[in-house]
Amino acid sequence: MQHRDDEDAAALWDDLPVPEVMPVRTMLDEFETVNVLAPLVRCSKLPFRHLVSLYETHVTTTPMILAEEFSRSQQARISDFTTSRNERGVFWMEPRKTGAAAAMTSGVASLSLDTAAHPEDREDNIEAGPSRRVDKTYYVPPDGGQHDRLPPRPTPPTKHSRLVRGALIAQMASPNAASLADAAELVAPYVDGLDLNCGCPQSWAYHEGIGCALLRKPELVRDMVRAVHDRLGWNWPVSIKIRVDSDLKNTDTLIRTALQANVSHVTIHGRTRHQASTEPVSLPDIKFAVECVRGEVPTVANGDLWDLTDAKRMVDETGVNGTMAARGLLANPALFAGYTETPHHAAENFINVSNDYGLIFSLFHRHLSYMLESRMYKAEKTYFNALNSSAQCVEYLADRGLDAAGRRKIPMWDARRGYSLLA
Ligand SMILES: Cc1cc2nc3c(=O)[nH]c(=O)nc-3n(C[C@H](O)[C@H](O)[C@H](O)COP(=O)(O)O)c2cc1C
Repeated sequence: MQHRDDEDAAALWDDLPVPEVMPVRTMLDEFETVNVLAPLVRCSKLPFRHLVSLYETHVTTTPMILAEEFSRSQQARISDFTTSRNERGVFWMEPRKTGAAAAMTSGVASLSLDTAAHPEDREDNIEAGPSRRVDKTYYVPPDGGQHDRLPPRPTPPTKHSRLVRGALIAQMASPNAASLADAAELVAPYVDGLDLNCGCPQSWAYHEGIGCALLRKPELVRDMVRAVHDRLGWNWPVSIKIRVDSDLKNTDTLIRTALQANVSHVTIHGRTRHQASTEPVSLPDIKFAVECVRGEVPTVANGDLWDLTDAKRMVDETGVNGTMAARGLLANPALFAGYTETPHHAAENFINVSNDYGLIFSLFHRHLSYMLESRMYKAEKTYFNALNSSAQCVEYLADRGLDAAGRRKIPMWDARRGYSLLA
């Protein structure tokens, strides 16, 4: 009987179109809501990216990768970047309602998954103005195979919904253009774009000339973006993630100068270099930065996004195209799917993806304690934080009703609908 039910359920998914694959810039231009996982050192690694992509996070970002190390050391490459054919989600997305977006839609060719992705196959090594649209995808699994994800539901929520594959961005930090271009070239076949970190506030980073040190070096930022374009093509997607400056004139200069190098989009964290994350984010400053962009490329807002109300307020008050969450997703990986706290199945999914991909215990433990914090009393937190193996954590959570070991039956799963992620 069970078998029959499975077959009936599977038939619902038979008529799905092939998901459209497009650059993040196009997603931001064309769709009403684009949700982004922020780069998170140590945390936005493959298992966590896969997890949030099960819950309406359309674009995910790697942790900041030090470009120089990455291009120089095989060990750094192994530890800093891992991906999987199936890590990107597949989503029903709603086109923007405005006439402008509708016009853009008609000019964009969405590509199927078998588009050539090797640098030598790219046709985009041509000069073009900053408003030239990108219509190519850059990541295809090396063996050219299809990936196996399905959207959360088999039928489109509205008659306008389009089926779209999510995107993965590698974030890099570099004090110079050459290292960035070298690292970009290595990672390019596996990602949909590169983001230049212009916002890390830590003093070691500042002294290394990376992160926030770039906020007042607009020409260097422009040259770095250009160097990647020189290497990979003028339209190869390179975005920047910035913090606002206490003197907004500097923000204006930074953005306008970066636009000269055809940045693909701009992410704006609405805190200055000296503001701690406990201080509230400034939506007026984000709005100012959005105005500096003058609609030339899409924008993403970041800072203090804890639920969908925050996301809506950000869009309404700043005019950005998409929103990015960091600590909000750590606390609740299903935030963008509308959950107000981590649902049980998200924790179960996390345990399963971590087992399938492999994740060191310290990170596994840390993620679980972030995501279950709001569900635990103080004494439980103390107990849970003292556990020192994955088995202990899973057992403890099983006693509290989490069924990670059970058959994976969550509808928000992928093509094999829960039986196995990687088989
Ligand atoms: C644990 C942690 C790691 C972070 N790592 C990065 C990083 O690698 N690159 C980056 O640009 N920002 C990094 N950030 C900053 C976030 O991406 C984000 O800009 C910041 O947390 C504000 O967003 P939030 O208010 O949603 O947390 C990190 C933040 C946290 C909490």
